[in-house]
Amino acid sequence: MKTLNLNIDNNQDKMYLRIAQAIGDAIKNGTVKTKEKLPSARALAEQLCVNRHTIMAAYHELIAQGWVETKQRQGYSVAAILPVISSLIEKKQNSQAKTYVWRITKKGDGAISRPAHDYLFNFAGGNPDIELFPFKEFKGFMNDALIRPPINELNYGDNSGFRPFITEVSTYLRRVRSITDKEIIVVNGTQEALYILSQILLKAGDKVAVENLGYRPAWNALRNAGAELIGIRQTEQGIDVDDLERLIKAHKIRLLYLTPLHQYPTTATLPQAKRVRIYQLAQHYNIPIIEDDYDHEFHYNSQPLSPMAANDPAGLVIYLSSFSKIMFPGVRLGIIAVDKGLAHHIVDYRTLMNHKASILQQDAVARWMRDGGFERHLRKVTRCYQKRRKCMVDMLNVFIDEGLDIEFIVPKGGMALWVDVGNKAREIAELAREQGVFLLAENSFHLHEENDENKYIRLGFAGQNEAKIKQGLLLLKPLLRMKT
Ligand SMILES: Cc1ncc(COP(=O)(O)O)c(C=O)c1O
Repeated sequence: MKTLNLNIDNNQDKMYLRIAQAIGDAIKNGTVKTKEKLPSARALAEQLCVNRHTIMAAYHELIAQGWVETKQRQGYSVAAILPVISSLIEKKQNSQAKTYVWRITKKGDGAISRPAHDYLFNFAGGNPDIELFPFKEFKGFMNDALIRPPINELNYGDNSGFRPFITEVSTYLRRVRSITDKEIIVVNGTQEALYILSQILLKAGDKVAVENLGYRPAWNALRNAGAELIGIRQTEQGIDVDDLERLIKAHKIRLLYLTPLHQYPTTATLPQAKRVRIYQLAQHYNIPIIEDDYDHEFHYNSQPLSPMAANDPAGLVIYLSSFSKIMFPGVRLGIIAVDKGLAHHIVDYRTLMNHKASILQQDAVARWMRDGGFERHLRKVTRCYQKRRKCMVDMLNVFIDEGLDIEFIVPKGGMALWVDVGNKAREIAELAREQGVFLLAENSFHLHEENDENKYIRLGFAGQNEAKIKQGLLLLKPLLRMKT
């Protein structure tokens, strides 16, 4: 420890005693904890502008009183057992001071009770396997960013993102996803994008159409802005467009939030014909669409459909993409690709919340993308997830052959299967969790609880290796229903 905040009394005592008193107070009020190292006599002397011998005298006074210990060549530390610890606790308990009660005007999203990765077998639907990330390779690009830092960009200024990173992302989006003519803004993950968009596009009471089964964190951001959510019916091929049309005619829908490529959580891909109809409706009724394309790359059998944003002559699609699945959620990197007319409003609002997203990290990722490492990694994980999907599908097919009553459609992409277990999906998920197997049932994804048929579970296949997938599924097997 180099510095320690001390309150030194201005009384008539000798300086070393006043300093000893102040250090003693810091120990008693918890500023420094038992066994914690104290500043060296030299460092404290410099901080307090006194002679080093004065500090040593103060420390020796405290050693004599039992508050401080010293070991040869290890400097001074707070004693492991304090002399009056019990009387201190008593004093605290008898204290009359009332703790401040906060007035909270808006509540956040709530913490997850036990994270999925704490379980031995983790079938959470959207978890990437972080261990596949090439940390060593990436370290080289982080180093490059530190060796030749973009000094100007590290200062306050442009809040839309680090330009070289934006250039890499635009090239990638154009080449791989056919998205052109959009402005790109870098955010700290899709969640930040959803929050900003909700705040700037909605006012209290506005109606937003969302998929009946969907992504709760997005709904929470929309609701926080005062939106009323209207659920669209779903089929095995994404949303029911007739139902959407009916809802648009019945309500004044202000915004549409969709996950077209791999519908979250059912994994269905929205067919091209439906996309065209949805777009026509959106254009006709002036409704912007948020397209959340959270795991675009993980598509296995063929090239995925281009995003709706790739064919957006009216500029009404707000395209969201995330690095959480490609890299890892902790990277907090997300992209908004939007029409020029909206872009600066997003950047302006973002400036209320924050000045920038992490520039050094964007610089390192840009270097990684330029080098080709990003796409190499993508090819590697896509192959790996494809094998894991096959492993899960094969195992579940064996279960079916053995007489288990389950059904599923093999998704073209994504990171999870949506499995019809007949009934008791909630109970299965709960029992599985008790046995160290994390998975969620359909009830976790319904906009309206009353729509819960208690039939489906979501099984993520990307986040753990094949051995774990097999072991986890074997634990799950006795919980599933036999054909009658
Ligand atoms: C539907 C959906 N959108 C977006 C994300 C990514 O969010 P973020 O970029 O905030 O990590 C996820 C992650 O699970 C998701 O499931």
